[in-house]
Amino acid sequence: MLQEPDAWSLPDEDYRFSLGIRPGIPRTFFGPSPDRDRLLAERRHWLITDSARYAAILPSADACLAEVETLATEWGFVAGEAGSSASERLLELGQQIEPDLVFLVPDASGLLAVVAGCVCFPSFWRLTDKMGLPLESVHGPVPQLNAFLGSSIHRYLTQMKPGGCWVRTNWGLASRPDLNEHPDRGRHPWKQPLSLDQVWLRREDQAILSLPNSGGVLFGIRLIIRSVAELAQSPETASRLARALRTMPAEMVRYKGLDDIRSELIALLDTRI
Ligand code: HEM
Repeated sequence: MLQEPDAWSLPDEDYRFSLGIRPGIPRTFFGPSPDRDRLLAERRHWLITDSARYAAILPSADACLAEVETLATEWGFVAGEAGSSASERLLELGQQIEPDLVFLVPDASGLLAVVAGCVCFPSFWRLTDKMGLPLESVHGPVPQLNAFLGSSIHRYLTQMKPGGCWVRTNWGLASRPDLNEHPDRGRHPWKQPLSLDQVWLRREDQAILSLPNSGGVLFGIRLIIRSVAELAQSPETASRLARALRTMPAEMVRYKGLDDIRSELIALLDTRI
């Protein structure tokens, strides 16, 4: 795994966007974790009962998919019967590999666009809304992200060393500990009055893997969920989370679904510092 699950190191700084990328090892990120059985059982559930909502593939993903299947044999993936369709092969991959997977390939103008994915544990976004879109449009709903980082993200992704792997982390908060926060499941309301044991931190460890043969990129997302009540037993963690929330721009607070609870949550965290 990218970091020890309990190394909840939010930076001790005001909230800001950052590339925050560090070198990663594909097999460490995509390979088996101690949580494998639970994660794969839940992935199977969503991919078998509702595959159209959690997986999608365009014809332009063919080369990328084949390249990832080959790489994934090192991460514990066993290819299914030869001759099955690209969608069936994608579903197999998504049921055997723990992280969510998004495939991107350069479009006619050289912009990386989403061509396939298996996303069972999204944080309030739909894979099906993103199919065929360049990354800048994928990030469109995130307030100010493209203005602050869009060109750095593009430059970085198009200049990656072939075969290179990088990792980064995003975080968010949710009102339940479910892995799957697909928007079609509805936003579970915050409990009022709020208490810290009704808030969960969703840490998304992300890997960006350049695919030298197909010219594509594999984006992996590994989700780790922890109770904020438990995390806030560390005064330092409570203080860092409170600082990030206090300094987060209002439009980002809205995007992250924290409008109703920001002040209350900061006050609760302050009691732990
Ligand atoms: C260095 C590269 C990247 C950076 C710095 C970055 C940064 C971010 C940030 C800050 C958010 C907002 C999340 C939050 O705070 O709640 C976000 C959302 C998102 N990112 Fe990225 N990202 C990167 C690469 C990618 C890639 C390669 C993909 C692949 C498709 C991707 C897909 C998404 C999606 C789907 C969302 C949610 C958008 C929505 O809510 O509709 N990101 N990203």
